Amino acid sequence: MKLSLELTVVTRPEWVDAVMADLPSFLQDHADCERKASALVMSLVAKYPDRLEIIPELIATGVEELEHFQQVYEVMRQRGIPLVKEIPKDPYITALMKLLHTDPLRRFLDRLLLASIIECRGAERFRLVSEVLGDDRDLQKFYHDLWVSESRHGHIFVGMALEYFEKEHVYGRLGELNEAEGCIVDGLELRPAIH
Ligand SMILES: [Fe+2]
Ligand SMILES: [Fe+2]
Repeated sequence: MKLSLELTVVTRPEWVDAVMADLPSFLQDHADCERKASALVMSLVAKYPDRLEIIPELIATGVEELEHFQQVYEVMRQRGIPLVKEIPKDPYITALMKLLHTDPLRRFLDRLLLASIIECRGAERFRLVSEVLGDDRDLQKFYHDLWVSESRHGHIFVGMALEYFEKEHVYGRLGELNEAEGCIVDGLELRPAIH
């Protein structure tokens, strides 16, 4: 069931050009993002051990993100692309984290909703990459499958929020955060990176 909201801003075509101009750097950044996505989900388990209703799905999602990391690493290994030690700080994630409410309960909601938005943006961008990879069938299928997986994650986190908060409250706040995310995306420098 579709639970997430549409993103308010569509990624510019120039972003795809930047990715295609340096696919190895994109893969290096992508691997880093998947590893961090797994860590971020597992940090929710650590922060909210009393939220029993969502812990199994959080763990399952953390495992899936780590599998994505494993898959990206395998693609890189086959192509002779190494992992890198120093990936610059992700300006998108840094800006999104500044939107987190300070009140603990609202912060919990914001963490779930931002997770949904990050997944939706990842899904959108994997789809864009898959659409231009016609010559590279393996990588095209890889990004197509990731698009499907990350879209599903986008719904999962809204579903988790609906376990604990009223629907109007969830979608009101999700709309606000989506607007803010659109402004952040508009201001991002174009790089061969997910964000
Ligand atoms: Fe992922
Ligand atoms: Fe994901």
